[in-house]
Amino acid sequence: MKKLGKAVVLSLILMALVGLARKTPLTYVDQRHQNTTGGDLDVVKEIHNLRVKVQRVLDTIAAQMPATTQRYLPTVYVVTPTYQRLEQIPEITRLGQTLMNVPKVHWIVAEDANTTNPEMVKYLQFTGIPYTYLLTPMPEEYKKRTGVPKPRGVANRNGGMDWIRMHATEGVMYFADDDNTYDIRIFEEMRYTKRVSMFPVGLVTHFGLSTPVVKDGNFVEWYDGWVAGRKFPVDMAGFAVSVQFLLSVPSAKMPFQPGYEETGFLSSLFIKPQDLEFVADNCTKIYVWHTKTQKNQRSSRMILDPKYDGTNLRQLQTHMTISDN
Ligand code: UGA
Ligand code: MN
Repeated sequence: MKKLGKAVVLSLILMALVGLARKTPLTYVDQRHQNTTGGDLDVVKEIHNLRVKVQRVLDTIAAQMPATTQRYLPTVYVVTPTYQRLEQIPEITRLGQTLMNVPKVHWIVAEDANTTNPEMVKYLQFTGIPYTYLLTPMPEEYKKRTGVPKPRGVANRNGGMDWIRMHATEGVMYFADDDNTYDIRIFEEMRYTKRVSMFPVGLVTHFGLSTPVVKDGNFVEWYDGWVAGRKFPVDMAGFAVSVQFLLSVPSAKMPFQPGYEETGFLSSLFIKPQDLEFVADNCTKIYVWHTKTQKNQRSSRMILDPKYDGTNLRQLQTHMTISDN
């Protein structure tokens, strides 16, 4: 009897607890609406589900943001003259991997050659950068010159410019030699060029620098170690031209005149120093350097030793230029 009495009491307590629990208002907790209680649970759930959906849409928009923003960015058309030598693929590797970090870029690689260079095309494909590969050989009359400087990269740059005139409608054009060193910030500085933007270039001549001299945002004069009567004593890497502006001057081109390519081209745009846009924080930052790569010797014939037959050296050999003796 005693046992039965205890069981009844326990069940009663349990039933009371369950009843109490049922009557306790349900509590719903979410991030912003703490302790929403009571009979509006359905509304709360609805709000929660809606919020989850909205968040999903916002996440999708955020994920697509770089692509969306990219679509509206002006394109940077980088025109790179290049030619075959031992250092070509290393130079292109360095520049290519710089450009892989630049959004909305189109790389126009113009090679001083009559035939396609498969190594170059393979590398361009590897980068995933939108590119155009052009064959722009130096005209024979300049190529056969001896004892005098040759107009290096001129046919290449004019070829790249012709392509831009035919295919581009917006953006900015920049002549980027394959051997210079570029900080990716320079491409953002030039991206919004209205006509011609200018910026300092490091390691140019014994002055160690080529730049417009700017005071209170205004052009004062040029700072360059080799003026030589040039109207625009600047380096090729020190300016960028808006595509729309380039299209507005159909006659603009680069002369086959060693040392005077930059000034000749800028003069052909009929631009005045006071119309220039001084970027890189009013020409106070260096984001590009006129670096030069030491010429390397051809490789030793050691690699041809038959003891290396059947080894990896036979494949590596195809990437080398082997000395004649
Ligand atoms: C300097 C300037 O920075 C160049 O922009 C200018 O074209 C050159 O002088 C010049 O006035 O001749 P620098 O470093 O002395 O350049 O010249 P390189 O770097 O040897 O050549 C400039 C560009 O032309 C490079 O991108 C190079 O790959 C290309 N190039 C050079 C050719 O396409 N063919 C050649 O025979 C030599
Ligand atoms: Mn160079």
